Amino acid sequence: MAELGAVLARFETMPPRALIIRSGKPGNFIVGADINEFGGLDTPEKARELVARGWHLFNTLAAVRYPTLALVRGHCLGGGTELALACRWRIVVDEPATSLGLPEVMLGIFPGWGGMRRLPALIGPPAALDLMLTGKTVDARRALSLGLADLAVPPRVMEATARLVVLQGGPKRRTPLARRMQRLLDLWPVKRLVARRALKTVEARDPRGHYPAPRAIIDIWANHGGNALNAPGQLASVIGSPTARNLLRVFRLREQLKAQGKQTGTPAKRVHVIGAGVMGGDIAAWCAYKGLTVSLQDQDGGRLATAIGRAQQLYARKFRRDLRGARAAADRLIPDPQGAGVAHADIVIEAISENLEAKLGLYREIAPRMKADAILATNTSSLRLEDLSQGLPGGRQLVGIHFFNPVASMPLVEVVHTDATPPALRARAAAFVGQLDKLALPVRSAPGFLVNAVLAPYMLEAMRCVDEGLAPSSVDAAMEAFGMPMGPLELADTVGLDIAMAAGKQLSDGEQPPACLVRLVDGGKLGRKSGKGFYIWEDGKPQKDAAPGAPPGLASRLLAPLLARTHKQVDDGVVASAELADAGIIFGTGFAPFTGGPLHWEQHAGQAGAAAPAAAPASTGTTAPATPRNEHTHKPAEPGTMHDPSTKETKT
Ligand code: NAI
Repeated sequence: MAELGAVLARFETMPPRALIIRSGKPGNFIVGADINEFGGLDTPEKARELVARGWHLFNTLAAVRYPTLALVRGHCLGGGTELALACRWRIVVDEPATSLGLPEVMLGIFPGWGGMRRLPALIGPPAALDLMLTGKTVDARRALSLGLADLAVPPRVMEATARLVVLQGGPKRRTPLARRMQRLLDLWPVKRLVARRALKTVEARDPRGHYPAPRAIIDIWANHGGNALNAPGQLASVIGSPTARNLLRVFRLREQLKAQGKQTGTPAKRVHVIGAGVMGGDIAAWCAYKGLTVSLQDQDGGRLATAIGRAQQLYARKFRRDLRGARAAADRLIPDPQGAGVAHADIVIEAISENLEAKLGLYREIAPRMKADAILATNTSSLRLEDLSQGLPGGRQLVGIHFFNPVASMPLVEVVHTDATPPALRARAAAFVGQLDKLALPVRSAPGFLVNAVLAPYMLEAMRCVDEGLAPSSVDAAMEAFGMPMGPLELADTVGLDIAMAAGKQLSDGEQPPACLVRLVDGGKLGRKSGKGFYIWEDGKPQKDAAPGAPPGLASRLLAPLLARTHKQVDDGVVASAELADAGIIFGTGFAPFTGGPLHWEQHAGQAGAAAPAAAPASTGTTAPATPRNEHTHKPAEPGTMHDPSTKETKT
């Protein structure tokens, strides 16, 4: 930024004919400010200084008399997008890596370098607020249709086009009427109406105000011309807030997990998955989606057919109008009832039913047919890796790669080892997880690993509250108020109460299961899948009564066993550090990201705030949906998305 300032100053006296700003790196335009600078923003003065720096610099750029153009190829995020917005023209290169957005909100802050002024003025406030409040990004074509880009061009003509546009003027297209109408909404007093509507949406998503940035964005846009320097109160309270600090921590934790999955050797090309059930089918579909060639084996042809059908639905969702992409992914997923793919695979993932003898028998049969250096992995969630590793033919080693359900939306995968697992095998397994764009958490073999081990006592405590007479909706409401995307009983219903019962037995040190759970399971009420559990389920949604108030301190009571078990897993070395435990629990359960993770919360807010706790997690280690997320570049975000740490677009 200092260099850009110096260049612009020089051009003051010697103006060029035109200025094109592009990146010298192939994959990125600019991914945003250096987030390490945000860590030191501990006083309002420092926060103000950082905002002022970019605000003034980009205003200088926007005011120059010569034509300016941003040629955007690759990721263009946060400060990068604000720089592009300060140019007269924006050309985007139409290729999959190109993405634009203002994801500051995911770090608990706002786009203070002109984004809040220029984006609404350019594309209209509704679309601009949508991008700024959710942090989602758009691809090249969407940027063009929104009016964020003036042109989208293929790479081979990008430079010639940029030159032509800055020297001869841009495309002479009339701005579409609809967009001109949208821009009118940026005028006072209509602005106030738009702001009120946006605020309503934000309040519905975050009624307790755990995340101050979205409200500040609306206020700064509507009442301060997008200039955060005119709103010193907002500036200080948002940038210096514990939420911003914690979301920054979550960002770093995510980077830490990504680093675990770094590729060190040759990436896998072929995968063979055995078991086409709930998990195996979805793991195979995901691998093919990520570009691997996958053979999928099951002894039951019907299960294979169902899994292939589900994969096609996934590709239709992910690729949308890109029919060719969807087709190519579907072609990479090959049904293989006889298991011929075993011999060619770089990694074989076993995801058959949870039965020790069946798994051992299968390994005996396939191990001799595998390539010598191929990885043998199991998706088991409850069997001991030590037991499964007994007597593997040819001295072969087994590693655990524990996916969560639903595979497509859960970002975390636990990579399970024993003391006997060679470090190189652990590293290769983690790299495979990274290759799938999932976050690899190394864990030592132990009942429930990390995620299920901490969720089980928390869900059981919630059920004990029901045994004591509390309504399920009151129990869940206490944790939703804490900030969890879903309460523990809705989570249990989602996972399946039979599975919750089995996991509880394994993980609760021989304690009696809660009476309500026994009653429901005995009555065939298994939760969402059977339509009845703690709730009655209709159209995939639990029907909740208006919750009578929960007794004070309920959230603290429910969190206590989760915290105790998390400490135990760290002390026992199941997970290597408290930081990694927080990371695993946030990305594996959806634990309220604004807290920075359970142990971090306990250490900071928790001490003072046991009285004001908010909440708890939301997904199952074994089976649950976590926070909703916008997984693709231009997918509308669902409620809660803006804070979801697991979105990809957290790069600012
Ligand atoms: P599932 O019962 O839905 O599917 C198992 C599949 O394996 C069935 O289609 C069955 O026909 C097939 N199968 C069984 N024996 C076979 C053999 N010898 N050869 C070929 N196919 C065989 O089970 P699910 O839920 O998919 O679980 C699979 C594994 O994943 C288990 O180890 C489970 O612990 C683990 N897991 C399950 C999770 C869940 O939420 N369901 C979450 C994480 C792990």
